[in-house]
Amino acid sequence: MARPKIALIGAGQIGGTLAHLAAMKELGDVVLFDIAEGTPEGKALDIAESGPSEGFDAKLKGTQDYADIAGADVCIVTAGVPRKPGMSRDDLLGINLKVMKSVGEGIAANAPDAFVICITNPLDAMVWALREFSGLPHNKVCGMAGVLDSARFRHFLSLEFGVSMKDVSAFVLGGHGDTMVPSVRYSTVAGVPLPDLIEMGWTTKEKLDAIVQRTRDGGAEIVGLLKTGSAFYAPATSAIEMAEAFLKDQKRVLPCAAWCDGELGVKGMYVGVPTVIGAGGIEKIVNIKLNKEEQEMFDKSVEAVKGLVDACKGIDDSLA
Ligand code: APR
Repeated sequence: MARPKIALIGAGQIGGTLAHLAAMKELGDVVLFDIAEGTPEGKALDIAESGPSEGFDAKLKGTQDYADIAGADVCIVTAGVPRKPGMSRDDLLGINLKVMKSVGEGIAANAPDAFVICITNPLDAMVWALREFSGLPHNKVCGMAGVLDSARFRHFLSLEFGVSMKDVSAFVLGGHGDTMVPSVRYSTVAGVPLPDLIEMGWTTKEKLDAIVQRTRDGGAEIVGLLKTGSAFYAPATSAIEMAEAFLKDQKRVLPCAAWCDGELGVKGMYVGVPTVIGAGGIEKIVNIKLNKEEQEMFDKSVEAVKGLVDACKGIDDSLA
């Protein structure tokens, strides 16, 4: 049986890390696509040359031609530009919206059966636009944010409790931005919910509030440290977890930006929710019940995403 084909649209910091991880995990053959000449070819060759030492079997190819992604099983999209000093949110939105148009058309023409994971920011609006431009089924197009935000939350919680990250489970709802909703009630240490751990005296509400805030600011914290770019190791790892769930039909329960059709009170929008990912793509949205406080935070986050989507419609008439 032929190996699965993984197309990475964008061969920058995250794209290169995705290619390396996909090869090392032998998820399939990798095609790196980018408009920058030489970058995808150079990264593909460099990673291929790590194969003999690492001992993986995977073909890697760099390209500027969409025809090379033909028949891809998975497409992971990081193409675009990051926000630069002096650039407004609308400037960034306008530039990356154009990128989503060309990427959406490229995927629709060459890999219409792929499971598509968008990473480009502003995430929730870009995944919506990518779905609109590509015309692929909603269950085959999703956005990576929740796995990353949850991983950050889990990491900070494991530091607080001094326990293995493996035993901390947590998830984050809502949009990938300042309004994201790290769920304290549904997060646990080995099944024990965080509010119970406060009662047991293992932590305090104040400490958890600070961890929630640090999670919300997780991306900015990395940008502040790196100064010349944004996070790429954890974002790439998170998207690979989603791709693997699809390729191996794992039925993983993972939070991601998924098309909601009434679930959690959201209709006709992409927003971060818990999902089941398997061979059918986004097979299910876990329609959890929120309490009043969580619902208010979630609604605020949904409103923020709506604002971005409306801004996209204002920029490109074909989306209105
Ligand atoms: N088609 C294909 N690739 C493109 C296009 C396009 N139209 N426009 C830009 N690119 C490529 C760039 O040439 C660059 O190699 O996208 C790549 C982006 O890489 P980086 O700038 O290194 O960005 P990265 O850190 O990988 O992040 C990518 O993910 O988390 C988000 O905010 C982040 O939107 C950004 C994206």
